[in-house]
This record gives sequence, C-alpha cells and structure tokens, in this order.
Amino acid sequence: MKIGLLGYGVVGGGVFELCANSEHFDITSVLCLQPESVPGGKGVANADTMLADESIDVIVEVMGGLHPAYELVSRALKAGKHVVTANKHLVCHYYKELMQLAAENGAALRCTAAVGGGIPWLTNLERARRCDFIQWISGIMNGTSNYILDTMHHSCVPFAEVLASAQRLGYAEADPSADIDGLDIRRKLAISANIAFDTGIPEEAVLTYGIRSISAQDVEAFAAHGYTCKLLASAGLQEPGSIYAVVEPTLLGADWPEASVPGNYNLISMEGQAIGKESFFGQGAGRYPTAYNVVQDLEDIRCGIRHFYTNACRDRMVDNTRLRRRYYVRTSAGSDWLTSHTECHWPQGGVITSPVSPVEMHAAIHTMEQKDPGLFAAAVL
Ligand code: HSE
Repeated sequence: MKIGLLGYGVVGGGVFELCANSEHFDITSVLCLQPESVPGGKGVANADTMLADESIDVIVEVMGGLHPAYELVSRALKAGKHVVTANKHLVCHYYKELMQLAAENGAALRCTAAVGGGIPWLTNLERARRCDFIQWISGIMNGTSNYILDTMHHSCVPFAEVLASAQRLGYAEADPSADIDGLDIRRKLAISANIAFDTGIPEEAVLTYGIRSISAQDVEAFAAHGYTCKLLASAGLQEPGSIYAVVEPTLLGADWPEASVPGNYNLISMEGQAIGKESFFGQGAGRYPTAYNVVQDLEDIRCGIRHFYTNACRDRMVDNTRLRRRYYVRTSAGSDWLTSHTECHWPQGGVITSPVSPVEMHAAIHTMEQKDPGLFAAAVL
C-alpha cells in the first residue's frame, strides 16, 4: 500500500520507522518543514503532488493542529484516499464534516492513535457499540498529566520540572498547556463520547478543569488521607437522552484501578449493557505507542476497512447539572459559598465540600480564582 505522510515530528518519525520495517507499507512522500531530513529523498515541502498522485492509497496525517491539516485531509478524502490521523484536535473540531466526507467518498477515516496513544480503545469502542448499548465511558486519557501526577505522588519533584521531563520524553503536546489544562483530554473524551453515544458534541460542551495549580502540599494531603489524584474524564447517558461530560482532577481511593496507573499510561473503561465493564490499559503517549496505532489503522485499511467508527450523529444535550460530587478545595480566598458548602476541614489546610454539581463547583472555582489564582480543587470519588 502506498502512503503519503503529512508530518515528520515525534509521531511521524515513528510511523516512518515502523513502516520501513513492514513489507506492506511503502511511504513514498513525506510533507515536512525540512524535506532534506527525510531519508531516501522522500521529503517534500508541498503536498500538491502527493494528493494528486493516484498511486497513493492512504494519507497519514500526524502534523497536528487544525490548519492546514483540515484542508489537506479534506482534499485527500475528496480524492477518494483513505485517511489515518493521530490528530484529536482535528477530528474533534471537524467531527461531523470529516465523518460525512469519508462516507460520501467511500473512504476510510481512522484515528485510533488520537485517543489513548497505543491503546486499542476506539477500535474496541466501535466493536462494543455495534452490538451493545454503551452506558458510560471514563478514564485516564492523558499520558502527560498522568506522568506528572504519578511522579509528584512518588517524589518531591516540582511541577515545572516534571512537565519539562514529559516534554523531553515526547509525551506532551507542542503547547503543553493543552495537557495540563485538560484541553487534550477533553478532545479525547468528546471523540469517545461521540462514537459511544452516536452524537456530535463539541469539545466546549465538556466541563473542564486541569491540574495546573496542584502543589506538592496537596499531594501530601491526598496521600495522608489515602487518596491518589488523577485527571479523569467521564461521560455517560442520562434520562431522557442527555449526556454528562466532565474532565477534572479526581481523588481516588486505593481500591480504584485508576489510582495505580503509572507514568504515561492510560486506563480507559466503558460500561455496556451486555458486556458490563471493560477496561483498556497501555501507554497513552509517546513516539512508538502512538505510531503503533497508526500502523494498526493502516493494517485495518489494508484488510478492507472503509469507514469511520460510526456513521450516526444525533443531537444530544450535554447536562452536567445532575451529577453530585464532593470536592477537595485548597484556597486562601474567603468565600461564603465555600463556607456554606464545607463538610469538613483537613488538618493540612484544604476542605471537603458537601455533594454539589460539577457545574456549581466549576463556577465557584472560577469566582474564587479571581482572589486566589493558586487555588486547587479536585472531585472526591
Ligand atoms: N499529549 C498527549 C498525552 C499525547 O500526553 O496524552 C497523546 O495524545
């Protein structure tokens, strides 16, 4: 199968290497900023020839960002080429458009590496949803934040230093604020929820709060109370047909499998009416795990797959007001809201609230952050 590769960064380089070791895949052209750096004279600075080349069956997009990725992927699909991408921002933002474009042109559109790095999550979600009724999905879907939180729980390394090492290891996004502020994981949750629940929610519908302001003192307090903090994404069906979709730091007791997920690993679960709970564990970020799932998608196309994970996209309302969770809050800002919702004080300084909706809590966080930008809060499960 002949392949045009868009992007030659951490993941693109990994895809190039893995395909070089395969008898089935021949990368004939690589779009990148430094074409001379690509072995075999395959580098190009412009994708026009690649997209017009009828001998190229599949375009692999691993350049990241929305533009020009969207324009190039759309042109590829319109030309009847199959597309494999690891770009969750692209798939999330243009979810309906790309799904429709692929269907209209009889082309495969696969993005398994976009959610969960090397984990076969989306492929198994597709298999589950085609013969079961998915109730909820939930999990750790960002390797960088898990690496940071896991390292902070095991050593006293400051936040900024751990983030720098996640960048060196190739886990972090080009702009790592997407990892620590939860934008990366909310895109992964939106794509997963759309496939699981046959809908098309935008990423903005996911209520999101990240880990930017967690401190070593917070982590010590969590450990003293038997909790581990993880950045958790969850979405599920509610009566009468709406869904909830939330990303927030979450304190988990030792009996939660998620509590012991190490390093850059992800653990993503779903609950189906027939299958019950199923979980998928593996490396959620990094060059070879991500490249591995790109190559798996190529194998699926070679074996005849010609579609996206679903073709259904019904409107569903996102309503996060019906959940109830307790929250840990550590802040120096006085707040009547917090005082009236405090259930107990921790000796280390934080408080635990009574059960409130994530919508109410996130609004209170934003108000209190005006006075105390260093505030940190986390749901307690
Ligand atoms: N920055 C992402 C993560 C890469 O850390 O999970 C994989 O999507």
